[in-house]
Amino acid sequence: MLVIHTIAETREFLSKIRREGKSIGFVPTMGALHAGHLKLVQKCSEENDCVVVSIFVNPTQFNNPEDLKKYPRNLEADVEKLTSVSCDLIFAPSVEEMYPQPDQTRFDFGILDKVMEGQFRPGHFNGVGIVVRKLFEIVEPHRSYFGEKDFQQLAIIRNLVRLLQLPVEIVACPTVREPDGLAMSSRNERLNPDERAIAPSIYQALLKARDNYSWFTPDGISKMVTGEIEQTLGFDVEYASVVDTETLMPLSEWEDSDHAILCVAVFLGEVRLIDNMNLY
Ligand code: PAJ
Repeated sequence: MLVIHTIAETREFLSKIRREGKSIGFVPTMGALHAGHLKLVQKCSEENDCVVVSIFVNPTQFNNPEDLKKYPRNLEADVEKLTSVSCDLIFAPSVEEMYPQPDQTRFDFGILDKVMEGQFRPGHFNGVGIVVRKLFEIVEPHRSYFGEKDFQQLAIIRNLVRLLQLPVEIVACPTVREPDGLAMSSRNERLNPDERAIAPSIYQALLKARDNYSWFTPDGISKMVTGEIEQTLGFDVEYASVVDTETLMPLSEWEDSDHAILCVAVFLGEVRLIDNMNLY
């Protein structure tokens, strides 16, 4: 497994792989790797000859400087974790390597970046678009793997690929959870033991919503889930939205959509967690 910090060396290594006729699979990450990330890497290695993982805490997608500063970084531990799965190349660039000058690109994602995360983290998905486009141009993968945990991000990436007509297949991977149901996230490390103990209530509330949605309107289910989560001290629900899985349009009636998903963002103390559940 190679660890490379420059774009030039990454391009050189991968052009050789391409010349050999091998397929390249790519998993972009911001490091602080957990079993959810490793599952993506594992799937990637099952479907491709060469596996590339990027580790880069991308400043352009953080709208809160404090959040960027506090984002966990530990390249050595991440490299160690990746030795347990099959990864051929870790691309871990510096901020200067990725952004020699500010990137002013503005994407038009339509409604996709206006709702939910887009409403509460303005500019976040534009920053994700900027970095993923750059990474795709560097790695030129045949396939790239993204988690359903970040459902809205997945919709944005699919849109980006269509918009730029990039020859990459986007592969979605199911959310990996802790045994108690909490969706794995690098941010879980920042929960104190008391917060960690109650964090699985988010998943419990989502399950309850899935099992009972037909008794409610979409708005009713949002209120039910918010009430369920907030009844435990320490939780503050930022949004609980029922949207169409393709368009991300918020639903006012179940008849508005063939496939609906419930997405939530929750503050547990200082830590912001997101999760989602397919309703039907
Ligand atoms: P990061 O949060 O590190 O996540 C990297 C990938 O791992 C994303 O596709 C994310 O959806 C997936 N992932 C995270 N937790 C998961 C879980 N519990 N189960 C399944 N997949 C999970 O998402 C980003 O980084 C960045 O925005 C990035 C795309 C790298 C651009 O900077």
